[in-house]
Amino acid sequence: MQRLIIKGKNNLKGTIKISGSKNATLPILAACILSDQSEIKNIPLVNDIFTMIKLLDFIGLNVSLSKKNKTVKIKNHLIKSKKNIVAPYKLVKTMRAGVLVLGPILNRCGKAKVSLPGGCAIGTRPVDLHLMALKKLGAKIKIRNGYIYASAIKGLKSAKINFPSISVGATENAILAAFGAQGKTVLNNCAIEPEITDLINFLNRLGGKIKIKNRRITIIGVNKTRQVSYKVMFDRIELGTYLIAAGTVGNKIVIPDVDYKIVNTEIKILKKIGVKFQINQKQITVIGKKKLKNINLNTGPYPGFPTDLQAQIMVLLTQSEGISKISEKIFENRFMHVPELKRMGANILIKNNQAIIKGPTNLFGAEVMATDLRASVSLVLAALIAEKRTTINRIYHLDRGYQDLEIKLRKCKASIKRI
Ligand code: UD1
Repeated sequence: MQRLIIKGKNNLKGTIKISGSKNATLPILAACILSDQSEIKNIPLVNDIFTMIKLLDFIGLNVSLSKKNKTVKIKNHLIKSKKNIVAPYKLVKTMRAGVLVLGPILNRCGKAKVSLPGGCAIGTRPVDLHLMALKKLGAKIKIRNGYIYASAIKGLKSAKINFPSISVGATENAILAAFGAQGKTVLNNCAIEPEITDLINFLNRLGGKIKIKNRRITIIGVNKTRQVSYKVMFDRIELGTYLIAAGTVGNKIVIPDVDYKIVNTEIKILKKIGVKFQINQKQITVIGKKKLKNINLNTGPYPGFPTDLQAQIMVLLTQSEGISKISEKIFENRFMHVPELKRMGANILIKNNQAIIKGPTNLFGAEVMATDLRASVSLVLAALIAEKRTTINRIYHLDRGYQDLEIKLRKCKASIKRI
């Protein structure tokens, strides 16, 4: 099993290029089920994307990936048939976004059998909101033997759907299903993450009629699509991770080709903590830090502070003067990184959904274990600050979502190797 060996205390300096967004590419690939032919560019070369490609391939699409060009070309001859199109457990269990194929398959083929994704390290993560939305759009749904059996033989119909709580995946599945549903669908209390806007932009290029205003999305169903070549947006969580890394151990880190407006919340919070930036239209430079201050923050749906950066900012706060508090509002069990950070010397107390971080603490290298994608990268950040050597085990979690992590960090003079 592969591990990362990191020697800390090197100041990072250099340029980091951000890859395409994993969380935008996944629903956009699922959306390709709706079209006969599409090309998706700027995809990140990470394992979750490879799993989604395998899933599309399994379903019967013809997918060709060029790693060199970071592009997938998809041809799709799926048609309505009496048989269910199946998304099997072995592919959906490793990557929950697999359930996003449900809406598009129903739209195109009328019948689907998709594995329930099950729980994961950060919480129970149900799909009840996905299914509620599909039922309102006219799908018949049964759960048997760990599978969702869904059908809409005569096609889906428009509906008005009020989500009781905000879910990224359920909003995406509902949009993908309503894309071809007859009439005008209105979705209220939607997630409005930038990845959802990217999905909508792609669908509108395909021929969709989708509008987003505040937390309301309206979709007028269409039954024809165009051939499209589409470039996915940058990965704002990868960007946020490197902004935090740069704020923690950076000297001067330049991040080109990104739009700072998308990470405004993160930049505001990092500035409050004491990180200094130079920002222009297309580039963010972290120029260093003043004395780091404590802060209280909540994670929340966009434009709130992302839960996917909670573990990383916690590492930065171990270096801040005083007591900081982070309340995790999205996932009930997302503090798996805390025991590992404590093994490296961090002073963190968990009370219900709140982490109380006392700083500054001198972190020291240790042997630690990655537990999920974002927890793993927080251990990398901790190791970059720590004295001496850290070994991170189970780094396959990192490979699900961070392209070339060690190569990007090594270019900035970090001492990091994979063995
Ligand atoms: C997506 C992101 C993930 C991010 C999360 C929250 C992708 C591929 N993944 O995950 O990186 O951490 O948004 O920003 O884009 N919930 C229900 N019922 C449902 C669906 C969700 O109760 O049917 C709950 C979840 O348990 C969670 C909350 O809603 O507590 C938000 O989850 P959701 O926004 O759906 O997350 P994902 O789409 O799975």
